[in-house]
Amino acid sequence: MILDIKMIRSFYSNLKFRISKIRNKIGRPMNYSEKILYSHISNKINLDNQYFKESYLNFFPDRLAMQDATAQMTILQFMKTGKNKIKIPTTIHCDHLIKSVNGAEEDLKESIIENQEIYDFLKSASNKYGIGFWRPGSGIIHQIVLENYAFPGGMMIGTDSHTPNAGGLGMLAIGIGGADAVEVMSGYFLELKMPKIIGVHLKGNLNGWASPKDVILKLSGILGVSGAKGFIIEYFGDGVESISCTGKATICNMGAEVGATSSLFPYDTKMSFFLDKSGRKEISEMADKLSKFLKSDREVYNNPCQYYDKIIEIDLNILEPHINGPFTPDRAIPISKMKEEVIKNNWPIKIEVGLIGSCTNSSYEDLSKSISIIKQAKKKRLKISSEFLITPGSEKVYRLIKKQGFISIFHKIGAKIFSNACGPCIGQWSRKENNKKRKNTIIHSFNRNFSSRNDGNPKTHAFIASPEIVTALIFSGYLTFDPRIDKLKNEIGEYIKFEEPKSIDMPICKNFNLKTLGYENPEKNGKNISIYINPKSKRIQELSEFPSWNRKNLLNIRLLIKVKGKCTTDHISMAGPWLKYRGHLEMISENLLIGAVNAFNNKINEIKNIFTGNYGTVPDTAKFYKLKKITTLIVGDENYGEGSSREHAAMEPRFLGVRIVLVKSFSRIHETNLKKQGILALTFLHSSDYYKIKEEDIFHFYIKDFRPKKNIDVELIHNNGKIERIKVQHSYNKKQIQWFIFGSFLNFIREKK
Ligand code: F3S
Repeated sequence: MILDIKMIRSFYSNLKFRISKIRNKIGRPMNYSEKILYSHISNKINLDNQYFKESYLNFFPDRLAMQDATAQMTILQFMKTGKNKIKIPTTIHCDHLIKSVNGAEEDLKESIIENQEIYDFLKSASNKYGIGFWRPGSGIIHQIVLENYAFPGGMMIGTDSHTPNAGGLGMLAIGIGGADAVEVMSGYFLELKMPKIIGVHLKGNLNGWASPKDVILKLSGILGVSGAKGFIIEYFGDGVESISCTGKATICNMGAEVGATSSLFPYDTKMSFFLDKSGRKEISEMADKLSKFLKSDREVYNNPCQYYDKIIEIDLNILEPHINGPFTPDRAIPISKMKEEVIKNNWPIKIEVGLIGSCTNSSYEDLSKSISIIKQAKKKRLKISSEFLITPGSEKVYRLIKKQGFISIFHKIGAKIFSNACGPCIGQWSRKENNKKRKNTIIHSFNRNFSSRNDGNPKTHAFIASPEIVTALIFSGYLTFDPRIDKLKNEIGEYIKFEEPKSIDMPICKNFNLKTLGYENPEKNGKNISIYINPKSKRIQELSEFPSWNRKNLLNIRLLIKVKGKCTTDHISMAGPWLKYRGHLEMISENLLIGAVNAFNNKINEIKNIFTGNYGTVPDTAKFYKLKKITTLIVGDENYGEGSSREHAAMEPRFLGVRIVLVKSFSRIHETNLKKQGILALTFLHSSDYYKIKEEDIFHFYIKDFRPKKNIDVELIHNNGKIERIKVQHSYNKKQIQWFIFGSFLNFIREKK
């Protein structure tokens, strides 16, 4: 059984009662996000009390999904809790570890052999603890969730930052760290600060070349990479109904790129259609009857300023296609301005590779738009000018597009189809051109374009656009091509222009309801199943406890690295070749901060060992300090830890002796991850104090009286003997302080038991 339909029936049978009760209690209309949040709160709290808006609240989500790269460490931690069974319906999806080299079939076979130990580990843990298992090749976590598990009005969590993809089906879906997942799997609540809500008003209709992807590319430009931090983005307005369910999912997926806690759309006919077409008519029938509870109250739409914390308006009628990048997804460039920007910034103009697919844009609709461009190109006798690579989102989508003839059309123009997996989106791409220092341009329809993310080359300029724009641009081969107005010369010398792409939301095809492609149920009784970990393994390692805090001030701390500028979780714990060590803390710690820029010499992965005076890599220097029992800290810039939910970015520094991370600001998931692993996550009270930190400083942190909302005094002793005093702040509540005291949340859970 894939989906617990009984649970959903019971959820819907109570929904009207629950929401009416909350509305009476609050005494005012509610937006959709509030309806879902309040109906999943476990606290006995006074909802009309202003206090709760600023507090951490406890939620009972309906589901949990984990991808294979994060699931390994999550399971390793869960094993340490001593629990026998998970307490929330959970699935594991094998998608991140599959390589993209030669094409789907061959890559899948080789990846299964290469990762057999990991898949066996995850499978045996799934059987033991009662977790549903999606085999390698079945698809990417978020597409599978959308096709099988998401339901309007529900709340889910996932150990992946793009979990909010399920918001395309009206579900409030939140990306969390594995440590958070362990708590919920163990029967505790999900603790979350009550998010604020941004209402994004979509006016009019998408037309021409503009697509759902352009809505979020435009919004990323408006908000920036941390502009929605602490917010849920809720879409409303007449434009909402014109966007397909999978288009909505694309928009919600990339809410992660602006730091949003989640993103979602209200229930509508497009969602109902998708549920029907993906074999969940029973759910759409229930949801149709309750549709007024699966959206904001009418008063909210009549007076949105009163019921959202912030409003942003996007007029779809005049929305232009966008190309965002390079190196950051929020550098939003309307396509009409692209020529100017390319010249001004001296970006490599020639596109070497175009890639479509990933969890963000691999629906049937997306691929059908790409096909519509290719069909035109064939008629107009055009050939591709760049390499073209495609990663379908799931086996369902793959079989469907194969049946509709898309695969052979892609092959005929020389495109390569990779496995239904993350592949090039997460650095699992063995690019033909392998020179890691060569400046070049690629364009893709994925969600992230951080430096080195796709091919490990920090000089690859990766741009993000919709699948149809990517497809049109690979026929031109140039980043400056605007298919709306520019013409291309075909093989017989004629100048031709593309017409607007056409798409099909979902074909009328009886066979889309292909259940259980790649799904395995867990054993009914996993009690006697043992999970074997080879002590000599280089892929999986049992966890040891982190030491507890002795309740004394943290004195004589030394700086490991002061990071300059953008520092994402990719910079802290790189993906690509390192993905294979996600279950082995010692091995993966060898990549600690190897992508970060040292503020003192502007170099990557080159820091000063203050005891020897020599420069070395971050991991080697950290190991030196650990051996000498010297506690260290990391200093960072704005939005430190943005990007993925991977907790390795918090566990690695902890493993290598870092006790404090002090930054101008944190991304939400990473801050929680640090707290959970027993690292003191602090922010400068005055961000200009960042500039006071010198390479050879000695730090004293006066935290003996560690309390919520109490700032901490810090002394910096510079190597000329001068002392400076600064104040730093934190966001710990009482429970989180316990994690720090015990050394980690895991120690805390175990001790409590
Ligand atoms: Fe996978 Fe990339 Fe999505 S890594 S889950 S395809 S963001």
